[in-house]
Amino acid sequence: MSGTLRIHVDPDKCQGHARCKSLAPELFELDALGNAHEIGDGTVPAGLEDKAWLAQANCPEFAIAIKEE
Ligand code: F3S
Repeated sequence: MSGTLRIHVDPDKCQGHARCKSLAPELFELDALGNAHEIGDGTVPAGLEDKAWLAQANCPEFAIAIKEE
């Protein structure tokens, strides 16, 4: 079995397209400028892995990194 996923938004790459938040509101939040941040420490709760991958695939700035731990 693979381990837990952890997401991270690169603040230098994020341009606030907000697709991540639309696709996976459980995993991303937007700051006052509209830029995304992972919620908490970025650990993806069981069952939300597909949403994490979907959000990553839909970020036009390639700002979302996913690590398997
Ligand atoms: Fe930023 Fe990409 Fe989300 S640009 S707001 S991480 S879709």
